[in-house]
Amino acid sequence: MTRVLLLGGTTEASLMARALAAAGVEAVFSYAGRTDQPVAQPLPMRVGGFGGVEGLAGWLRDEGITHVVDATHPFAAQMSRHAVLACDQADVALSALERAPWQAGPGDDWRHVADVAGAVDALPEAPARVFLAIGKLHLAAFAARPQHHYLLRLVDPPGDLPLPDTAVVVARGPFDLAGDLALMRDHAITHVVAKNAGGSGARAKLEAARELGLPVILIARPDVAARQVFAQVADVLHWITG
Ligand SMILES: NC(=O)c1ccc[n+]([C@@H]2O[C@H](COP(=O)([O-])OP(=O)(O)OC[C@H]3O[C@@H](n4cnc5c(N)ncnc54)[C@H](OP(=O)(O)O)[C@@H]3O)[C@@H](O)[C@H]2O)c1
Repeated sequence: MTRVLLLGGTTEASLMARALAAAGVEAVFSYAGRTDQPVAQPLPMRVGGFGGVEGLAGWLRDEGITHVVDATHPFAAQMSRHAVLACDQADVALSALERAPWQAGPGDDWRHVADVAGAVDALPEAPARVFLAIGKLHLAAFAARPQHHYLLRLVDPPGDLPLPDTAVVVARGPFDLAGDLALMRDHAITHVVAKNAGGSGARAKLEAARELGLPVILIARPDVAARQVFAQVADVLHWITG
């Protein structure tokens, strides 16, 4: 019998959950548990890590999972690597639902960097006003550049921040161009730092940067081992149901 584990935490995962529920496919939706109030899903949900590769492989066997759909964020590379190894161990089929990376167009001033450390290095020496649109996980790396003012947009109110000069906006995407233009104007932003997440929900800040003529320091995606990748929910559904 088909039973799916859907690894979530993204807009795409929520769309996949809706499609699985609508098709009557038996599935479990998994959240890491990073946000205080995760979006409700039309599938049974579980929250929290599995305990590494061994933990996940055991969980897949215990739950009788036949297919794993990895719809985590392209920067959630550890989870994705674990899924590759655990599915191999437990002999479970794996595919990823992944958005294509963003591509620069006319008028964009993107400076590509390999990782978070590269983004820190790419900031100017002179004090700047930086929209640091990378979530909460890697903020500490920017403490090496304390001369900048950082605008942070986070899903939950943060506790203590590792940066001396910040403004915090608590908001959950998707975001639109008008809103991001207003935000960046209000905060007199001079630089944007972003992850190349792809998709539509977080793209508005790049379009706003283009309109305002601002440079974007864009962090490349981490590598994940080879796996079957689909860009469309319908293709994943077809892969599961045949
Ligand atoms: N990284 C980002 O920029 C970003 C942005 C938006 C949303 N998210 C979402 O936030 C979550 C965590 O991202 P991350 O970058 O911290 O991941 P990560 O570094 O790849 O994963 C760290 C650990 O968190 C647990 N984990 C991650 N995703 C999980 C899931 N969907 N279900 C159960 N356990 C999960 C796993 O723990 P065990 O080893 O114990 O199994 C994993 O080893 C993901 O669901 C991701 O889709 C991430």
